[in-house]
Order: sequence, then C-alpha cells, then structure tokens
Amino acid sequence: MCGIIGYIGPKNCIDIVFDGLKKMEYRGYDSAGIAVLHEGHISISKESGKLENLRPHLELLPAQAKIGIGHTRWATHGLPTRDNAHPHASERLALIHNGIIENYKELKAELQSKGFHFRSETDTEVVAHLLGERIQAGDHPRDALNKVIPRLEGAFSLALICDQEPNFIYLAKQGSPLVVGLGKKENFFGSDVTAFCSHTQKAVFLQDGECAALGSESLEIWDRSGQKVPAKTTMIQWSASSADKQGYRHYMLKEIHEQSGVISKTTHAFVKDGKLDLDALGLNTIDLSKVSSIHIIACGTAYYAGMTAKYAMETSLGIPVNVELASEFRYRDPLLQGEGRTLVMAISQSGETADTLACLKHAKEKGCQIFSICNVAYSSIHRESHGTILMHAGPEIGVASTKAFTSQVLCAYLWTLAAAQKLGRMTSSEIDPVLQELKSLPIYMDKALNAEEHIAELANRFYESPNFLFVGRGPSYVIALEGALKLKEISYIHAEGYAAGELKHGPIALVDKHMPIVAVVPKDSYYEKTISNIEEICAREGQVIAIGDDKDQHLRDLCVDIIPCPNLKTPMFQAIVSTVAVQFLSYYIAIKRGTDVDQPRNLAKSVTVE
Ligand code: AGP
Repeated sequence: MCGIIGYIGPKNCIDIVFDGLKKMEYRGYDSAGIAVLHEGHISISKESGKLENLRPHLELLPAQAKIGIGHTRWATHGLPTRDNAHPHASERLALIHNGIIENYKELKAELQSKGFHFRSETDTEVVAHLLGERIQAGDHPRDALNKVIPRLEGAFSLALICDQEPNFIYLAKQGSPLVVGLGKKENFFGSDVTAFCSHTQKAVFLQDGECAALGSESLEIWDRSGQKVPAKTTMIQWSASSADKQGYRHYMLKEIHEQSGVISKTTHAFVKDGKLDLDALGLNTIDLSKVSSIHIIACGTAYYAGMTAKYAMETSLGIPVNVELASEFRYRDPLLQGEGRTLVMAISQSGETADTLACLKHAKEKGCQIFSICNVAYSSIHRESHGTILMHAGPEIGVASTKAFTSQVLCAYLWTLAAAQKLGRMTSSEIDPVLQELKSLPIYMDKALNAEEHIAELANRFYESPNFLFVGRGPSYVIALEGALKLKEISYIHAEGYAAGELKHGPIALVDKHMPIVAVVPKDSYYEKTISNIEEICAREGQVIAIGDDKDQHLRDLCVDIIPCPNLKTPMFQAIVSTVAVQFLSYYIAIKRGTDVDQPRNLAKSVTVE
C-alpha cells in the first residue's frame, strides 16, 4: 500500500512529482524516492523516513527533466532503508511498484544464478532486473513488459521509465490500483485520483491485466492478449481543495468536524421530498427477493460500521446477517448460496482494501450478489460490485478513519430502511419518523462536536495511562470497539473494547484505580444494564468516563466525568453521534503524547496487500 505517481509533459516534473507524492503520503510514509529521465539519462534520488527527508536530495536531479516517477513506501519486504526505497534500477530503467510479488524468491534465485546483484531486499528489484534482462537482450520495453508480467504472481501496479524509450512511461496493473490523469499536452498517473486532481479531473482507471504506454499527449492501453483497449475516461468529482486541511492542524481533526456536513450531504443524496430514494440507494441493482442470507465483509473501522449496521439490518429485513472480517472470511470457506441467494455487502472507505476485494471476487465466483458501500468512485470494489452506494464523505486523508465510519453507518442504515420498504417489511409510516429525526441529525452532531474542549481537558488527565478499556452494550458496544481502535491507532496506548456485560467473565480482572474505562451509555434500551456494569467496575475502583447525558445525576455519582452526548430515539443515529466523543478523545490524547496523528507509525490509509 505504497503510493505511486508520475508525470510526462512540457513542464519540469520534479516539483509536480514531489507534490503528488505529498498527496500520496497517506498510503505509506517510511521512505520515498523519485526517478527522472532527461536527455536519455535516468537519475534517481531516494531517502528513508518521511517524504520531507527526500527534498534536499532533489537538487541532485536534473531540474529540467520533464518525465518523472515517484514512490512513497509502506514496507512489505525489507526494512524502511534508503536501499529498499523505490525507485529500483536495472539495465537502462527505473521502476516503482505498489503491491506484493508473491513468487519473488524463486525469480530472485534465478536472476542471481545468472549473476544479477541485488542492492535491496525488496520483491520489486526482482521485477526491475527481469525487465532489465529483457531490455538488455534487445527487447522493446513494451515487449519486455509483455514477457515479464505473466511471470509475476501477486498484486502490483508498476511504472517504469527506460532510456531506450525517452518519450513514454510504461504502466502495468494487476490487483493494485492505478489511474491515469489526462491533462492538456501533459499526462499523469497515480495510485488514486488525489495524486493529480489538482491538475486534471479527467481520469482513466486501468483494469487488472492491462498495460499502458503513457506519452505527454497519448495513452495506449493493451490487455493480456496484447489487444488494444480503448481508454474509458471518467470525470472525477473531487477537487484539490477538498483534499487539503482547510486551516485545521490535522486532517483527522478536519474530518471529525466535517461529519455534520457529510450527514447533510448523505441525506440530500438519498432522501428526496421526505422519502427514501430506492434507486439512489442501489435497490434496483440487486434482486432482494432472492436473498436468504447476508454477509457484510470489511476490515478495521469499516468492519465496525458493519457490526453497527447489523443491529438494525437483521431485524428490519428478517434475514440473517453475518459480519465478517475479510482477512478471515475467504480462507474459512464460508457457506455461500449461489444464484444470488446470498448477498455479500462490502464496506470500504478506500474501495481498494485487498482482503475485502479478494472476498468479493471469491463470492462473485460462487454466484452471490455483490453490493458495496464505498467512498471512492471507480475504485476496484466499486467496479467489482453489482450495486454500490457511493458515500458522500469526500476524500478521507487522515489514516484513522472518522467521517467515513459515521457515513458508512448512515448509508448502511438508509439502505436497510429502503430494503425493508422494498420487501414490504416496513411501511412509510414506520420509516417517516426516522427520516424526521434524520433531518435534525446534523444538529445533534454539532452538539456532540461542541464537547471538544471538554474532551481536550479530559485528555490532559488521562494521556499518560498505559491502558484503556472501552465498554458499551448493543450498538454502543461497537462504538466502544471503534473507540479502542482509534486510541490504539494514533496514541499507541493499549486499549480494548468490550461488551459491558462481558467484563465480569474475565476482563474485569484488569480493573483497578489506575484503569480508565470509557463507557458509552446513551439513554436507550441498554441503559439500565450498562449502569449495573458500571457499578461493578466502580466497585473495583475503576475510573469510569461516561459518554452520555451530563444531567444524569446517578451516572455522575458513579463516574469521574461525563462527556455530554445528546440522546436520540433512533439507535443507529445514537451510535453515529456517540462516536464523536471517542474520536475526539483519541485525537487529544494523541496530541498530548506527541504522536503523528495523521500518519501513525506502521499504518497506511489503504491496505492494498493481503
Ligand atoms: C481505520 O482507522 C483504519 N484506517 C483501518 O482500520 C481501515 O478502516 C481499514 O483498513 C479498512 O479500510 P477501508 O475502509 O478503506 O477498506
């Protein structure tokens, strides 16, 4: 899940490629490099660490270069060192790669037996030498690609420049994302559209098995059989400004604050004249009448969005709903009914998560109907699905997902209501009051956002704690899980989320006066039971921070503090509003601990390897 980018055109390319890498840095940020082709020579600069470490080395590159490729890395093979950073060189070429070459060891041994020396531990350098060997043997870069690509197993998006063909950048895609940006007398490519959306909105998404030759005014695509493929252009909606911080200290903070607006946009997109828009919610892209089981597939925070949605989906549709970790699902050979009787719903912000994508492809082969909730149009998961709800969250750059989560829960719930209506399981008189409360959800969200200062102060009291527990019941249990994940991701504190009723079966042994416990306690049907669990914790001197009604005296007597959170009637809306507090808490604790909030260690925004 590295980020790749490139430019070919009349302008000096170094700054364009470096700026593009900045936009790609959320995909991986442990080392970076740029290669340019100028006057028939290839020059490479690369460095370990953050992208800024590379900037001083750019002076070594010929400033007039017009063709350049760049890479920002999330290490899969070999430590994040300068030697392992991309681009990797071989005879007359430089190559960048996003993905994993699974059979690189045997290919490497073959090359070493022929005398090739390796400077790095990466799988990518193997591809560079395989291509270099062909080009050395006299092959044109295009022919070298056509001979080498079929030998590679795994996922990859590749780009190479070669001094033999100074007017083209060569591309290849299998599994990992790769999109071309068509400009005026100049062209770009990237791992996603944010790489070049400040230059052009005209994009061509390459498909699996395709290769391409990108010139400054041309794009030629061919498939595995060598057949030419017409370039299908798509106008992308996202503008450059939607991908910047707009005055906030971090993308994460900006994205937390954007949630009320995202909810309004989502409502606007899927509710017309007070009624659900079944078409916009994709209900006409699948045959619900056939469906007898639903599997929600996702990873990380998206998985928690699925777990939350299940609380409403199963009862509203009367269909069993399993929520599955994508990395486990495929390999346990799940029971899937063909002929569309099983609906597989994928939830993914990026639309490129390899585990989730692989599950979709597997389920499709088994004859399942595929539906997805996704934030990136034309991403692999969007293109692989029979139907998709495109979220209206806008680009999410902060690695810790925030607005995408609340948007996913809302989209899944609106889909559920529409599906229940379509199946005749809910009448509009049952749905109308929910849509009524939805109208005021952005206001409730703003109220929750108003607790920011309170939470920042709370963070000052607890940021040194080495452990945290989060608890809740029902949908609030999942918000507890999400809260623990957020805190782990950005503050590196060991945190666990638990069903409040489960504590007494073991984890309560962790509780003492040093253990902060965040309890998600809205005034809903789980309230009384959750209060009893909080009393059990207090009986062991646990420090309970409640997210709930700050006028609730009984709760106040039990807890060290209450983070005020409005009460709502609709459980899914309550879950969305309760999430803000755990997002802010993790953010302000991370700030106090001085960690890199937008680019936490060891993580990347889009996980494109299994
Ligand atoms: C969440 O904060 C993480 N970035 C991660 O768990 C993420 O939710 C997961 O990788 C799934 O990503 P996706 O939604 O793009 O598929």
